Amino acid sequence: MRQENPDIDYIRIAATALPFLLAILTLSAVGRVDRIAMVVLWGTAAISLLWLLARYRADILRERRRLRIGAGGRERGGAAPLALVRIVDGMADPLLLLDMKRRVLHANRAARTLVGEAIVGKDISFYVRHPAALEALDAAIASGQPAEREFTLLDPVERACMMRAGIIEAGEEDATARFVLASILDLTKMKRVEKMRADFVANASHELRTPLATIAGFIETLAGPAANDAEARRRFLAIMGEEAARMLRLIEDLLSLSRIELDEHLPPGGAVDLAPLLENIVNTMAPRGKKDAPEIRLSLAAALPPARADRDQLVQVFQNLIDNAIKYGRAGTPVDITAQPVERIPGRSEGGVAVTVFNQGEAIPPEHIPRLTERFYRVDSARSRKLGGTGLGLAIVKHIVSRHRGALAIDSVPGLGTTVTVYLPSNAAAPAA
Ligand SMILES: Nc1ncnc2c1ncn2[C@@H]1O[C@H](COP(=O)(O)OP(=O)(O)OP(=O)(O)O)[C@@H](O)[C@H]1O
Ligand SMILES: [Mg+2]
Repeated sequence: MRQENPDIDYIRIAATALPFLLAILTLSAVGRVDRIAMVVLWGTAAISLLWLLARYRADILRERRRLRIGAGGRERGGAAPLALVRIVDGMADPLLLLDMKRRVLHANRAARTLVGEAIVGKDISFYVRHPAALEALDAAIASGQPAEREFTLLDPVERACMMRAGIIEAGEEDATARFVLASILDLTKMKRVEKMRADFVANASHELRTPLATIAGFIETLAGPAANDAEARRRFLAIMGEEAARMLRLIEDLLSLSRIELDEHLPPGGAVDLAPLLENIVNTMAPRGKKDAPEIRLSLAAALPPARADRDQLVQVFQNLIDNAIKYGRAGTPVDITAQPVERIPGRSEGGVAVTVFNQGEAIPPEHIPRLTERFYRVDSARSRKLGGTGLGLAIVKHIVSRHRGALAIDSVPGLGTTVTVYLPSNAAAPAA
């Protein structure tokens, strides 16, 4: 089908035909051709001209039809004005043009992707069945005023949407003809963010309220029934100290998270030599005092390029990962840390360094893995809480890695254990700090 600009072709054809016509005119003017030849020449010119006009008209009609019915639809009478169709096509949001009986005259590409190719030419209720969505259209049609309603699309996947409808007068032949311009907004992402924010407040309050309630309970006991019980006082004060420490850790983690988020858009510029950094962390974390403390084994590639990183944040990342490996690893088994250069960071085009932290033990069920970096998400909340966890460690890791323009991968293999890999871009140009 002729598409972008059919006029160009006709201009070309006309330009080729022009010298031919001029030649006929000149020859007839000077009387150098006989009558029969003249009739043949003028006849040919007239037939060509008629053919050209017919083709032009057919192309224009075809183009109009294409714009009206969209790529996948079938037209069933009625027509949307061309100018409106072009505006709708030029917009990125899903837009539909309907007549005042709710029949879809045109759908732009985004709308067809959302509700399906076959929608054009049909009543919209065939495809968007939700009463609220139809109510928005009906309200706009009845009142002539813009209307909007939220609804849920279930097919092919569940999405929260909003139907917005307005009436426009824009007929081609009849200037007062009215059409419905409807947009379907996908609110799924916005709703998810809204829910995450609400969940976050609920989770943070819950995490703070639990230790606070414990402390308040013990204060009451110490002030009343256990006032003179030295043994109970000693025990209760120890628990209160633990709970207070947990609250402090939680608040520190939350503050740390918001600090990281604040400058997440600014990647660090420093160069950090990973070998001494990792050795230091391992040395501080290894003697955790317990007799069954796991051995932490470090294996570093010989030529490690420096990482483009913020030293303090990297310490936070590896302390969190090693802490998890120790906490959730099988007792008595070692934790293995490796670091090696990589040609490409997953999802990015540059090379860097990959640091892996591996522990043996129970695998994390696969359905939990994508959610581990959410704030307060824990596979086994009770167990994690008992081990002193706040559920913020991996969220902090994720945001730091994202600020570094690196990547994070968590792999867990049943019967083997869990490997967490941090990819960091290298900073070969700058001298390592
Ligand atoms: N190496 C691991 N092996 C098994 N499960 C793990 C491992 N690392 C993390 N997890 C699971 O992921 C959850 C989230 O980890 P995260 O580090 O964010 O929180 P946490 O360790 O519970 O608390 P925090 O790190 O704030 O003290 C943990 O509760 C645990 O269920
Ligand atoms: Mg942790």
